[in-house]
Amino acid sequence: MPAKIIDGKAIAQKIRENIKQQVAPMKTKPGLAVVRVGNDPASIVYVNSKEKACQDAGFYSEKYELKEDIQEKDLLKQISKLNKDKKLHGILVQLPLPAHISQQKVLEAISPEKDVDGFNPVNFGRLLSGNKYLYPATPKGVVRLLDEIGCKIAGKHVVVIGRSNIVGKPVAVLLLERDATVTICHSKTKDLIEECRKADILISAVGKKGLVSKEMVKQGAVVIDVGITRENGKLFGDVDFDDVKKVASWITPVPGGVGPMTIAMLLENTLVAKRKIEESK
Ligand code: GUN
Repeated sequence: MPAKIIDGKAIAQKIRENIKQQVAPMKTKPGLAVVRVGNDPASIVYVNSKEKACQDAGFYSEKYELKEDIQEKDLLKQISKLNKDKKLHGILVQLPLPAHISQQKVLEAISPEKDVDGFNPVNFGRLLSGNKYLYPATPKGVVRLLDEIGCKIAGKHVVVIGRSNIVGKPVAVLLLERDATVTICHSKTKDLIEECRKADILISAVGKKGLVSKEMVKQGAVVIDVGITRENGKLFGDVDFDDVKKVASWITPVPGGVGPMTIAMLLENTLVAKRKIEESK
């Protein structure tokens, strides 16, 4: 029997609808600032979708489109202003940044209370120490998809391909928190096929079209595709979807799988940040 398809778009829509209903009666709306530097085509698409999602959910939102050649100190000044702005509960700086700007410095400059991406080292540390706060949106979305399909995580063998700070590392930690046994694979892994074949849950977050073939997937595994490659305006995941769906039990499509969940989780994180900020007053 071919794999069932995990409809991330529908699941994300349900979450966004629920958020909208929570926001409707609020006197002070959750506020999110989204900052983009330069003109990376993918970042333009992502930032516009994030802003639109804010508007649809009834959030207050600000969008900053800064020049590619902005100096690092000016970007840091801008972030410092946003940190102090009472209307804002969340700040997101879209990555990647131009090479002349230190990503680390920028992420450290965002106030941990408003860090809805969960990339500030304080929140990354909280994640590692099991102290719940703001979790990175894409990894949080992956775990939510597994919960939505009723996939039990505890005791399962999860294999994550990719070790980025945005997806690979945090998703591995979140699943470890849920009592999975986790293997992280990367470009230097000796036998990727053999490692992947052990997975009950296989998560690929590399950005290499067709990386995961049927030979790498155990019969009945759940396959989550986080990778995105753009070719001639079309989106492709890491997973050879038509091939792998013959052996998996569940599979996410690209587009329409994990992508929409990232946005839903960003909205959720902004609500969490607002609550925490208000509680601490
Ligand atoms: N670039 C790719 N994914 C992300 C994300 O989740 N957050 C930010 N800020 N930049 C990204």
